[in-house]
Amino acid sequence: MFFKLPRRATLTAAAVAAAASLATVLTGTAAQAAPQPIVGGTTTTSTAYPYVMQITDSSQNQFCGGTLVSPTKVVTAAHCMVGETTSSVRVVGGRTYRNGTNGTVARVSKIWIHPTYTSVTKGDDVAVLTLSTSMPYTALPYVSSSDTSLYAAGSTARILGWGTTSSGGSSSNQLRTATVPTVSDSSCSGSYGSRYIASDMVCAGYTQGGVDTCQGDSGGPLVIGGKLAGITSWGDGCAAAGAPGVYTRLTTFSSLVATQINS
Ligand code: ARG
Repeated sequence: MFFKLPRRATLTAAAVAAAASLATVLTGTAAQAAPQPIVGGTTTTSTAYPYVMQITDSSQNQFCGGTLVSPTKVVTAAHCMVGETTSSVRVVGGRTYRNGTNGTVARVSKIWIHPTYTSVTKGDDVAVLTLSTSMPYTALPYVSSSDTSLYAAGSTARILGWGTTSSGGSSSNQLRTATVPTVSDSSCSGSYGSRYIASDMVCAGYTQGGVDTCQGDSGGPLVIGGKLAGITSWGDGCAAAGAPGVYTRLTTFSSLVATQINS
């Protein structure tokens, strides 16, 4: 299990390329592609997914993701905000690349963390940021408490982020995306035992693994049926068989979150 991506974890494109060719040497074949950020994903842009926000430190180093749900409100993970203050974080929209300087940088005037959040395996992994200035990007609608059918096992869920290419790997410079099927509660309980709290979490991933969020993707969106339905939260390793990604089950928190968004 891993928590917030260490901010020093940025590697250069050259280092990433070197690692990829080393992987080719080690596996003895180039036919098997190196693991891709959002493991198994493809590159995309902030233009294609304008609601995806970088959560950065005050020097604009991305460490988590977030979702724009109104011009001044961003939903992210509670575990991303632990130890942060309104002056230590920024929200960056419209920036496809971690090393970009374009887009819109907003300061944060309020950080709401679920009041009973303690750790990712105890649930409540949700936070809402209030921006000091508006983001000129299209927001994503978020689920209401009655949208629970979206989580039906096998539903197609989209994941997005700048996270690592593999467990313990390096972050992606470019935004990436993939789709993964949601997993039933019984199956996810089978994977994680009592660490999976069905009321607060939902799992997504293939039985055989291969596609997943990873470190640095936390706080970012799980989109189902055109709505923000989950928040990237945790998992054992990344993209491993039998260990799907675990996402905050947003329907459980939608009224609490709505109060923050409408305040
Ligand atoms: N906790 C990680 C983060 O802070 C996200 C891990 C997601 N892991 C997974 N296997 N889906 O970025």
